[in-house]
Amino acid sequence: MMRVLCFVLLLPALASAETGEAAWLRYAPLAGNAARRDESALPRTLVALGDAAPILKARDEIVLGVRGMLGRELTIAAQVPAGGAIVVGTLARVRDALPQLDLRDGIGPDGFRLKTALHNGARVIVIAGESERGALYGAFAWLRRIATNEAIATLDETQVPYAPLRWVNEWNNIDGSIERGYGGRSIFWDAGHIRQDLSRVAEYGRLLASLGINGISINSVNANPVVLSPELLPEVVRVAEVLRPWGIRLALAIDFGSPQSLGKLPTYDPLDPSVIAWWKARADDIYKAIPDFGGFVLKADSEGRVGPSAYGRTHADAANVVARALAPHGGVIFYRGFVYDHHMDWNNPKNDRARAAYDNFHPLDGQFDENAIVQIKHGPIDFQVREPASPLVGALERTNEAIELQITQEYMGQARHTVFLVPMWKETLDFDLHVGAGGPSPVKAIVAGRTFHRPTGGFVGVSNVGLAPNWFNNHLSQANLYGFGRLAWNPDLTSRQIAGEWTRLTFGNDPRVLETVTRIQLDSWRTYENYTGPLGLQTLTDIVGNHYGVAVEASERNGWGQWHRADEKGVGMDRNVVTGTGFIGQYSPPVRAMYESLESCPDELLLFMHHVPYTHRLHSGKTVLQHIYDSHYDGAAAVAGYLRDWSALKGRVDDPRFEDVRAQLEYQAGQAIVWRDAVTRWFHRASGIADTTGRVDNYPDRIEAEGAQLNGYLVKAVTPWETASGTGGIECPPSASCAAQFKYAGPSGTRDIVVQYFDVNTGAARFRLRAGDRVIGEWTASDRLATRRLDGSSSSRRIFTAVALKSGDTITIEGIPDGGETAALDYIEIQQTGRSIR
Ligand code: GCU
Repeated sequence: MMRVLCFVLLLPALASAETGEAAWLRYAPLAGNAARRDESALPRTLVALGDAAPILKARDEIVLGVRGMLGRELTIAAQVPAGGAIVVGTLARVRDALPQLDLRDGIGPDGFRLKTALHNGARVIVIAGESERGALYGAFAWLRRIATNEAIATLDETQVPYAPLRWVNEWNNIDGSIERGYGGRSIFWDAGHIRQDLSRVAEYGRLLASLGINGISINSVNANPVVLSPELLPEVVRVAEVLRPWGIRLALAIDFGSPQSLGKLPTYDPLDPSVIAWWKARADDIYKAIPDFGGFVLKADSEGRVGPSAYGRTHADAANVVARALAPHGGVIFYRGFVYDHHMDWNNPKNDRARAAYDNFHPLDGQFDENAIVQIKHGPIDFQVREPASPLVGALERTNEAIELQITQEYMGQARHTVFLVPMWKETLDFDLHVGAGGPSPVKAIVAGRTFHRPTGGFVGVSNVGLAPNWFNNHLSQANLYGFGRLAWNPDLTSRQIAGEWTRLTFGNDPRVLETVTRIQLDSWRTYENYTGPLGLQTLTDIVGNHYGVAVEASERNGWGQWHRADEKGVGMDRNVVTGTGFIGQYSPPVRAMYESLESCPDELLLFMHHVPYTHRLHSGKTVLQHIYDSHYDGAAAVAGYLRDWSALKGRVDDPRFEDVRAQLEYQAGQAIVWRDAVTRWFHRASGIADTTGRVDNYPDRIEAEGAQLNGYLVKAVTPWETASGTGGIECPPSASCAAQFKYAGPSGTRDIVVQYFDVNTGAARFRLRAGDRVIGEWTASDRLATRRLDGSSSSRRIFTAVALKSGDTITIEGIPDGGETAALDYIEIQQTGRSIR
């Protein structure tokens, strides 16, 4: 025991892992029993066969993991000693070293084998990959078993990835900002160059390799042509070199106009010989410098990007000109299926953005080269809180596909809300599109190339990690990257398995932590859906702004096509074949029949598929409107529950991460109330139909700021109106200091005081709360959320608990503006102590 302890004390600074940087690869010491359990099962020597970089990485990882988790120092040897060994290498090398061992053949390029056996009477643990990369994956899988308390005494396991392509896309701009990234600035780029310090890239490569990710593109799909410039190439090479040992191929997103904008040709017509030659020359140059370069990602004719339509050419023409430049080198092009017209006429009820991907690509099926892959977002719109599976997935029988899943939480609370996306992805991946001739055809099988026997295909995750110590700015959001990788490797894993694994690896094996975190994660998507956009309404957020805060009508009366068409009578997009846009007709007959009929359309997609009156009864028996009301209250209450449950884990999770997550959940609980009130009030006003339980527009504990006695403060209308309670808010003119006085009329006693104020990103206004003449608290509104306005994003909540109040007390809030920030207030609530998160 003493020896184990000594080793534990000598460990490299694993405590730093508790910033979240090490994510699920912490290798934290296992509790006594688990550590002892593995004691006898573990040889003391490690043999790494060969010196290929992934094998050396596997070796180092095993040493680090065994040291960290079990407190044991492994001896490195070149040959298996008499006492046995852990042996890591390619199948071929292992066979040479241990000829008598029976190892299966042909497990596939990235597959691996874990096997325990006796060698000359001594115990060996074999970690063998078909390739070096496979061996590295095997090492991570073996370490995962140890970390999650699974048995390692007897191993006989083969794992083969479900699909050949398992990539991430990083929407990084070369100035170092990240499009739809919430984890800080780029780990790759800064000020137009690749960063000098690529240490976070190396760490990221390690995290990705542990999941079996084998490709990465490192710049935004809204690509700057400069990424292909010869001057940048040596810098890009440095990134490839950092990632190569982890078995990850580097790729770039490209701009289709590059032959003209960068190459100075008169045209970028994909059929023009000079353009063909230009793409070929660029590819040849890149492969000279990066022989294992993965390829390109291309967004064309979408959201203002140039594309083949400029010359009357097709997407297949565009994909193929690039594909042919890459083909001789073994590269691929991911051509994005996210193509739609964002200037659609809102007044035309037949217009429908959801149709666009299918309408654009289905006619081209069979025209794409073998190394071109159409990359299709999982739903027909754009990463909304709930969408059906994209019908395009089932409609390309002679074209390679990849599904695009968004790990970064653009429409999913931007990492300020905890939303575990794996259950949502699973629903799509497992959804049977009823295509092909060979039995069930779930989305996962189609995109992996299995259903239509395609040469390649797979999974792409839009990840967008940043320099934030924990990569996403939310510890719990890491589970989405983890879950993406695990599903890309094996989409048959359940959400519960993935959440459980991730929790054990990230927070340890304490059963209470495991139960609580897994439950929160598994519940969180449904909860987010409940308070943002239930029944297929999509995320009711600011579509034309930051895609974060609530703004029910932002989707309407514009060309972007994320319409829900709510009016005073009803709500929903009529996508029927008979009466609507015809979108439902893009599915195969059984799926079409299910969605077309109100009887069989699932409630959760009802308003995506149909326009119905508010009084329409769901299968649950509730009316649509009452469901909208109830789900928002349920959702907000659920987040309050997460906060309560997480708070009970104090002492079971290291303090820094405990406090980070607590603060995140507290913020989310407040935002869920903003969403709840805004959406329910909007629908109340639109429909004129009251909530049967009387909650909506009835807040007995609330005192509106615009009704307070104002000194210096001025009443201010808030846009959109539903994001402020009552008739608006109040704000303090610049270079003044203001106060709002509220009268407390309730009985004397201890109360919680909730202050709902606005925190925009143009200053750091200061607030002070007094009860009578006592100062209860002071705070600064210094959040940097992307909003300059008083709206659903900036609406913020602060709670002061257990304040002693006397009946008739004056509660005063003083505000001092700063910069463009006006110390604005919405309301206060005075609540029974302990009930303030509601
Ligand atoms: C979303 C996102 C954009 C992104 C686009 C894409 O619309 O808001 O920032 O460029 O998707 O996937 O191309």
